[in-house]
Amino acid sequence: MSIAVLLLAAGAGTRMKSEVPKVLHPVGGKPLISYPLDLCRRLRVTPIVLVIGKKNGAVRKGVSDLGPGRVTFAVQDSPLGTAHAVQMGLKALKNFNGDVLILCGDMPLLKKSTLENLIRTHREKNAVLTFVTAVLPDPFGYGRVLRTSRGEPCAIVEEKDADEDQRKIAEINTGVYLINGPFLKEKLKQIENKNIKREYYLTDLVGLAFHEQKTLATVTVADPADGLGVNTQEDLTCVSRWINRERVKLLMAEGVRFSGFENVVIDAGVRIGAGTLVEAPVSLRGKTVIGKHCLVEPGSMIKDSVLDDFVTIKASSYIEKSRIEKGATIGPFAHLRSKARIGPGAKVGNFVEVKKSKIGKGSKANHLSYIGDALIGKGVNVGAGTITCNYDGFNKYKTVLEDDVFVGSDTQFVAPVRIGRGAVIGAGSTITKNVKPRSLALTRPPQVEIKNWAKKQRKKKK
Ligand code: UD1
Ligand code: CA
Repeated sequence: MSIAVLLLAAGAGTRMKSEVPKVLHPVGGKPLISYPLDLCRRLRVTPIVLVIGKKNGAVRKGVSDLGPGRVTFAVQDSPLGTAHAVQMGLKALKNFNGDVLILCGDMPLLKKSTLENLIRTHREKNAVLTFVTAVLPDPFGYGRVLRTSRGEPCAIVEEKDADEDQRKIAEINTGVYLINGPFLKEKLKQIENKNIKREYYLTDLVGLAFHEQKTLATVTVADPADGLGVNTQEDLTCVSRWINRERVKLLMAEGVRFSGFENVVIDAGVRIGAGTLVEAPVSLRGKTVIGKHCLVEPGSMIKDSVLDDFVTIKASSYIEKSRIEKGATIGPFAHLRSKARIGPGAKVGNFVEVKKSKIGKGSKANHLSYIGDALIGKGVNVGAGTITCNYDGFNKYKTVLEDDVFVGSDTQFVAPVRIGRGAVIGAGSTITKNVKPRSLALTRPPQVEIKNWAKKQRKKKK
């Protein structure tokens, strides 16, 4: 039998205390809503109806930014409860008579295998309604599952409506249901809002089905994390910690080494080669790819960058949209701002900023420099305190240092300027004109020395 998905995301999300709609909060480098959407795509279940609230522009945009994929939107004007949300969603499924899979937009840890299990159980038991439960050490805030003395599910009672004994029940409703379509359409009409929150609870369907002696079934997740819902900022942090831990474990299984589990942030698109050691705290974001046998020291942020094998990132470096080739060393305290391409075995040392520049094989910029819009050849030595003056307030200009150039410390290159192969720049120079290959260029004023000047000066002052 065919399955349609109703994804609920129209709740007010008040507990998040945020201007951003709950389902757009990022976790593990993706918005919350992308998790159930990915899951549905992986399960190949369509159609997907996403129920969103009245002020839904941001959510619509956020979902379309996730890329193509057929999602039908249904609007719930005011958040009158989960049953009401389902009713609004069903308007988009008028001619559908299969089973309806109901998911919430705020459950990023739900596994594909759980849904497969749900579908299998529902069919095997020929149930009208099957739902996913979890046993939590701290069930606070969730709807509790009530069972008969024979262990059959007979109702769900929400935290706020539960009595003291019911609150002690550790088995909770995760908010994932597979429901026979015609039964759902029929019974929704009978749900009332006679409860503390004055909401139409979808969970009341369980009690209604039980009273009509319909077959109910449950699936209990083995890993309670599977059923975690995000309602607060604290939940969001817990979930993202969990996601990062899982990613660390997966990478470890592939031979990547980590100094620990905590304070490691790894986005979904990140890949790391075996034998690489990653030391926390660290943030590996976006589409970063790290090769084999690299070392990433603590305090580094690497975003949308590619590191070849045997690269070393020393402590506290910030690297964005850059490419670092085999065996290069970056940092400590280096900043590859964007579009930096660091050649094989090259070195970018402490307090060096590189932007939109290429540094060739084996070249070094070891201390305190700004390299912007530069093309640096192979075997170049960039002395401490070298600055490319690439901007005149209007436009950006290029600095070219050909192979084997030696730049003395505290040099400024006023771009556009080209230094020929093997040339030497004297320390303390301001270079404004091109320099021919193998020449020495310097703009250093001659040193003046006046004998005994200091001594006389001191005498005068006495
Ligand atoms: C709900 C369940 C609870 C379960 C928990 C699991 C009900 C009544 N309770 O409680 O049994 O343990 O999920 O996380 O269903 N939504 C709408 N429109 C609304 C209200 C909610 O679209 O009018 C959406 C929300 O955006 C959210 C989902 O439904 O994605 C669940 O709503 P939420 O308010 O988070 O319900 P809980 O109180 O967590
Ligand atoms: Ca919730």
